[in-house]
This record gives sequence, structure tokens and C-alpha cells, in this order.
Amino acid sequence: MKITPRVFSGMQPTGSLHLGNYLGAMLQWIKLQETHECIYCVVDMHAITQSIDVWGGPDELTRAIRMVTAAYLACGLDPKKSIIFNQSQVHEHAELAWVFNCVARLGWLNRMTQFKEKAGKDRENASVGLYAYPNLMAADILVYRATHVPVGEDQKQHLELSRDIAQKFNNDFRDTIVRAGFEDGNFFPLPEPIITGPATRVMSLRDGTRKMSKSDPSDLSRINLTDDADTIARKIQKAKTDPEPLPSEELGLAGRPEAENLVGIYAALAGLGVSSVLRDFGGGPFSAFKKALGEVAVDRIGPIGAEMRRLAGDAAEIDRVLADGSRRARAIAGPIMDRVKDLVGFIRS
Ligand code: TYM
Repeated sequence: MKITPRVFSGMQPTGSLHLGNYLGAMLQWIKLQETHECIYCVVDMHAITQSIDVWGGPDELTRAIRMVTAAYLACGLDPKKSIIFNQSQVHEHAELAWVFNCVARLGWLNRMTQFKEKAGKDRENASVGLYAYPNLMAADILVYRATHVPVGEDQKQHLELSRDIAQKFNNDFRDTIVRAGFEDGNFFPLPEPIITGPATRVMSLRDGTRKMSKSDPSDLSRINLTDDADTIARKIQKAKTDPEPLPSEELGLAGRPEAENLVGIYAALAGLGVSSVLRDFGGGPFSAFKKALGEVAVDRIGPIGAEMRRLAGDAAEIDRVLADGSRRARAIAGPIMDRVKDLVGFIRS
């Protein structure tokens, strides 16, 4: 059971996916499937950690799981190359999460900024699942002994926690790990985050200091992958800017969050560096830049929405992709979870 390079990542089926998900994570996922063994999950068990009003109840959850799967496929993930499945079909995630609940320390979870943001002021009323969420996330990754995790910037702290959990498990169970033949005493790898590209943190189109997010009440703040061409162009047109022309060099973007965000989005969509975008548009007015940005966004995002709608029309086919992916995922996770049980000292038959 040697550790080999393996990629794992996931997205939550709450609300619709947006440009931040696409540029921050999906572009990396698509690239990696050409070079690595990749496992991409629709993390439906994470979706229910928030209040039922937020995730919308059972019918909405089922719809959202299929929609996110359709988005994965429409963006270019290939179920022949990558394993695509929904988390709740592979029970080993929940089993390993329990073991990690007993490895992670309260103090570690207390530092998680995303829990503080999502729980808000009424912390007493947050679910235990929301609090323990990062442990389930560590289990998602480590139940495959995955080594690389492509995500946006906002997941960095959770990834650090996953590494701490992996390390503490290796330390706590070092004796049985060595006895089981892992000579260096490490059963779990320390997973590496992959946070790259010009748009690892895409900001709201209405406020360059806030992250683009599914939960923002203003639909104008984000481009959804399901938006049609007109909607995409209109949202870019209405995006907040500042009165100065675009700078010619990257340094000139400092202190101009809206400009920095739009230039980063353009660079990521066009596959260019930020400096080359500024070489083309620096010194010019926002109007010309926005027009070009609208065109490239419609070009890249428009077809995804159309393809998602087509795929979502065939629920049976989506469910078949998920069933096949889950079977392949279980074939990897099952033996690893068996080994974890042996290492911890559980009896299994
Ligand atoms: P989620 O569903 O919030 O987001 C999915 C992915 O999209 C990235 N992302 C962004 N990137 C750039 N700019 C933005 N505005 C933006 N918004 C979202 C996220 O960083 C993420 O990569 N906890 C995770 C899901 C998860 C997971 C995992 C990820 C569960 N288990 C194991 C990796 C490995 C989440 O809520 O992502």
C-alpha cells in the first residue's frame, strides 16, 4: 500500500456553481485529469451542515446534486478519466470522519474562520456537523490517501487542518503503523493544496472586498454557470469599477480591488498572465475592457450553461455516472478504511 500521487477535490451542492468555483478550482481539475489519477466528489454530506433553509430540503438537495454533476461534466470533466461521484454513496467518508473526530482537537477547530463566518453570531444554534465539517473534509481526502488537492484560496486553512490530522494520526498510531509494514511510520500522506492561477480568490462583482459566493443575496454579485449570454454580458456591464483608467502594470492594481478582480478574471478566462492583460488594456477606459471581458466570459461560460441544461434533462444518465463513480471510489476507499480499522485496533470480520 504505497502512497502514489492522487488528486481529490469536491464542491458542495448548495445553490448553483459560479465563476469563482470555475476559475478557482475547476480549471485546475480539468488540467489535472490529463496527468493524474483524479477523484472529484459532489460533497452532499457537507451540504446539510447548514440550516435546512439554506440547502433547501430533500427535493432541492437531489436536484442540486444532479446539477453540480451536470456542471462537472459540462465544464469538461470526463468520467472515463476521472472518478466522479457523490459523497454519501461511499460510507467510508463518514466512517473515517468519526475516527478523525477523535484525532482532531477542539482547539484546532475553534480556529476555523469559515465556521465563524457561517455560524455567524448565533453560534449556539449552529449544527455540530458544521463545527466538525473540516474533519469530514480531511476524511474525504485521506480515505483515498490523496496527495494533491486543487482548491480556491478560501480552503487553505481547511487543508492545513487536514495535514495536521494526517500527521497526528501517524504519530498516535505510529507503533501499529510500523508493525503493519509502513517502515517510515507514515500511513497517511500530508496532502498538498494546489492553489494556482490568476483567480484563486474571485471577488463579488458588486464589492471587490468580498468573495464571490453562492450565498450573496445579490445575483448581480456573481456569474452563475447557468447564466445565459445576455445575463453574463449584463452582469459584467454592471460590475463595480473605480473612476481611474486601468494601470499598465500589476503594481498599479494595489488598493483597487474591483479593477484587480476584473483583470484577474479576464486573465484566467483568456489563459493569459495579468501583466499581459494590462499590456493590452492599460491606460484605456473600463468601458473597452468590460466589453472585451464580456465577450470572453460569454465565450467560455455561455456554452457550459447550455450543456448543463441538456445533461440535467436526463436524470437517469447523471445517476448512472454517479453510481459508476461511487463503485470505483469504494474500490479505493474500502481497503484503506479496513487498514485504518486494523491500525486503530478495531476487530473486523
Ligand atoms: P465550495 O463548494 O465552497 O467551493 C468549491 C471550490 O470552489 C472554490 N471557490 C472559489 N475559488 C475562487 N474564488 C471564489 N470566490 C471561490 N468560491 C469557491 C473553493 O475554494 C473550492 O475549491 N469545503 C469545500 C468542499 C470540500 C472539499 C473537500 C474540497 C469538501 N471536502 C475535500 C477539497 C477537498 C467547499 O465548501 O467548497
